[in-house]
Amino acid sequence: MQFQVVSGKAAPAAGDCAVVGVYDGGTLSASARELDRLAGGRLAALVERGDFTGKPGDTLLVGDLGAGAPARAILVGLGGKAAFNRRSLRRALIAAFQAITRTGARHANLALAAEPVKGLDAYARGRLVAELAELALYRIPDLKTAPKPALPPLASVTLPVSDAKSARAAERGIRHGSAIANGIRQARDLGNLPANVCTPGYLVGAARALGKRFRKLKLTIHGPAEIARLKMGAFRAVAQGSVEPAQLIVMEYRGAPRSAAPVVLVGKGITFDSGGISLKDPGGMDEMKFDMCGAASVFGALTACAELALPINVVGIVATCENMPDGRAVKPGDIVTTMSGQTVEVLNTDAEGRLILCDALHFARRFKPATVLDIATLTGACVIALGPHLSGIFTPDDRLAAELIAAGTRADDGAWRMPLTEDYAEPLKSNFADFANVGGREGGAVVAAAFLAKFTQNLSWAHLDIAGTAWLSGAQKSGTGRPVGLLVDFLIARAGA
Ligand code: BES
Ligand code: MN
Ligand code: ZN
Repeated sequence: MQFQVVSGKAAPAAGDCAVVGVYDGGTLSASARELDRLAGGRLAALVERGDFTGKPGDTLLVGDLGAGAPARAILVGLGGKAAFNRRSLRRALIAAFQAITRTGARHANLALAAEPVKGLDAYARGRLVAELAELALYRIPDLKTAPKPALPPLASVTLPVSDAKSARAAERGIRHGSAIANGIRQARDLGNLPANVCTPGYLVGAARALGKRFRKLKLTIHGPAEIARLKMGAFRAVAQGSVEPAQLIVMEYRGAPRSAAPVVLVGKGITFDSGGISLKDPGGMDEMKFDMCGAASVFGALTACAELALPINVVGIVATCENMPDGRAVKPGDIVTTMSGQTVEVLNTDAEGRLILCDALHFARRFKPATVLDIATLTGACVIALGPHLSGIFTPDDRLAAELIAAGTRADDGAWRMPLTEDYAEPLKSNFADFANVGGREGGAVVAAAFLAKFTQNLSWAHLDIAGTAWLSGAQKSGTGRPVGLLVDFLIARAGA
């Protein structure tokens, strides 16, 4: 997708599709009035007749606006003018791009994106437009045999801004937004693939492809023998019931001097979670192909980071395997020794995410990290607590929590801080090992985080539980690419870029 930023007065004549906003009750926005002038009052007449009322998310395609106007225009409902905010603009832009992609338009003139919103600068506008434009073109990599409908011909988007300074800010926003969209797309693609395609070995291939694409990305793959040598007893225990070998993928992106401590991203990469011997109920079990979405977000974030050549060091660690029941599978009551030396009684083999993460998090120490973030579809309890809107953040560090929440807000990829105190480790007491891997049902998402906290002492660390946000269910079933937006925004801010 090409983007042009034009400064000066809105010029709805450019392009073959003008996109303008209409407020509640059919009130034309400034850009709509400008277009109406070119169209000889046809738009005003249209809303006068009651054909478009400006309800949020509504769109209307109109053609034949006269010789002075573009071939077509899309009117987008903005809702009430007084309440118009960032969220309404986002919603309007999504509706607009959906409508554009149903037409033959090649060059959209997005006057709508210049609609005044309090506190929204040109950088944020540029980023929003680029991200949403790219994602409007997203198609699930499906295996349907019917011929695919052609992709929409949309090739370029024009974004009007007020002056030259705003133009530079918007261009920077567009660069960031495009890279974030590419990262999100990559995370969605990996998540959407079926588990018989997206295996641990497939993720190794995806990492190798990234290593080839970016010179600044150094790759190390640790297979089963190295994982054993590293004494990752918990990670091995999860993998031992599967015929697919476990893999520990390490991707080191170097954008800053060697001396700069890296941010380490640790992703849960369970390519299928059957529950193991503690087998899950069959209903919805297919969705456990998404149990590698934490890993997918690490791939996505690193892609964006490398594409933007951010001046920061980032290490991506992906621990990936399947969780399967088998004659050799780990059993309830088995005790494993983790890389940290601490022992764990595996009371429930379905609490496998924390087992692979505790070893990957301990491994992260070798990079002397500035901060470690783990990203995991860790608990159904987090979905119960927060639903599908916000990811859970767990960290003892108030400043890090605030930093992550701010990044999520800027990226429209929200997260909510959950508690994390020593009390929550209480249910993990075991008579046979240092801890059990599960407590009771109560506060399950926090107890899981308290387990991970046993392995991250003295690190600057946060855990992101994305079980509710990483994918949508039902008719919308698809990976969302979250929290790539949050992560990349966090890294942009850390890099000061
Ligand atoms: N991958 C699941 C968590 C999950 C479940 C995410 C449903 C999204 C939707 C995880 O490995 C798991 O099975 N967790 C158990 C933990 C329990 C055994 C303490 C859970 O949440 O039920
Ligand atoms: Mn599980
Ligand atoms: Zn899982």
